[in-house]
Amino acid sequence: MAPGPRLLAVIAALTLAAPAPAANIALSDQCPASFENRDGRCRLQTAYSTYTSLRDAGVGGLKTGLPAFRDGFAPREIDLGRYLFFDPVLSANGKVACVSCHNPARGFADSRGRSVGVARQPVKRNAPSLWNVGFLQRFFWDGRAHSLEEQVRGPLYGGAEMATTPARLVAALNGTPAYRALFAQVYPDAAAAIRSEHVYRALAAFESSLVSLNSRYDLYAHGIADALTPRELEGLNIFRSFVARCAECHTPPLFTNQQIAVIGMPEPDGQPLDPGAGAITNEPMLRGGFKVPSLRNVALTAPYGHAGQFRTLRETVAFYTGGRGHAVPPGERLRIHWHIWEPKLSDLELDRLVDFLGALTDESFRPATPAVVPSGLPVPL
Ligand code: HEC
Ligand code: HEC
Repeated sequence: MAPGPRLLAVIAALTLAAPAPAANIALSDQCPASFENRDGRCRLQTAYSTYTSLRDAGVGGLKTGLPAFRDGFAPREIDLGRYLFFDPVLSANGKVACVSCHNPARGFADSRGRSVGVARQPVKRNAPSLWNVGFLQRFFWDGRAHSLEEQVRGPLYGGAEMATTPARLVAALNGTPAYRALFAQVYPDAAAAIRSEHVYRALAAFESSLVSLNSRYDLYAHGIADALTPRELEGLNIFRSFVARCAECHTPPLFTNQQIAVIGMPEPDGQPLDPGAGAITNEPMLRGGFKVPSLRNVALTAPYGHAGQFRTLRETVAFYTGGRGHAVPPGERLRIHWHIWEPKLSDLELDRLVDFLGALTDESFRPATPAVVPSGLPVPL
């Protein structure tokens, strides 16, 4: 008897659910959008590279160059990093991947105040967006890592995040034939054995490909006068005014000057003061200091602040007009940055700032989520 339609449907469903043979995965030999392939290496292409006046334009200047950028990775190296980024085989329990906390559909953040990893408990801080990390010189809210390769050991080996060990990580990858084949294509010396340095480097290559420089703000900066609405333009002018002083720290075009600043943002209810960079350097001046975050794609990454203490952009922006040091816990003496003052912004001005921040959204080069990852494990999205 021929199988009835119901049985056929069940077979079809089972075939769909089973992991496709991961050995079929081929790495792309195209550079991601906004990169140009020069001699097998992907180099960033941006209209900003024609502007050289990083210093001369002053803060808030439109035609200002970008800081140095980490590029020069090979196309397949970037694509290998993409598979690793989505693959939970990197975690101790096979359930948590980088993408669990840095979700492309959530601005490469996770919509939580504080992220949750294998320990199922909130970690100490809020997951930052990964857009444009290739421009950053230091990493983490307290700036404690100085390269992407150094940074990535934090989540991989942190007990609350992915909780693996270097030995376990390489054992899992060397034990997956599909990974052995892919790594050997990218790094000839990985043919003998995949090492943790290969993993760090491929992840860094993928992260550096996450470029967002095509927002409506950028069109405006490049001379398209009507790219911003009148309200957004008003917001931009408040943003870079010497009254609000936002651009002193959130300096265009990256919208961060990459420095650590003590601004006195509050902790979430009931949490003790996070000493931030002060705990890394033991420098009293830096107690309560955090890295100035880039504001690109910020409208997508609520909640805000180092521990997700503000629910909305409007609440975040209103912090700046609450008075210098107004949220510092009693008994603490933080050395609040001199650009944090009492701008006395009106409600309308705060609304315009929020309008402007929305014009910094650009996800046009969001990378594709792989349908299957080489381990065959489900992608934790
Ligand atoms: C459990 C959630 C979680 C997972 C999983 C996770 N991260 Fe993060 N990530 C965070 C949090 C939270 C921070 C900020 C921590 C801090 O500043 O102390 C962070 C910070 C970062 C930063 C620094 C960004 C900046 O602006 O300074 C990078 C880069 C990063 N993660 C990449 C990765 C990569 C790559 C992976 C996978 C290997 C990964 N993360 C896995 C939650 C996570
Ligand atoms: C003295 C430097 C400085 C100035 C001036 C400044 N900021 Fe910030 N900004 C920071 C730092 C540092 C943080 C992170 C603080 C924290 O999380 O504790 C931050 C965080 C933010 C955030 C949250 C971003 C996120 O991803 O969580 C927004 C939004 C923001 N600032 C907007 C503004 C606006 C608008 C202004 C002007 C009214 C402004 N900032 C002025 C340094 C500054």
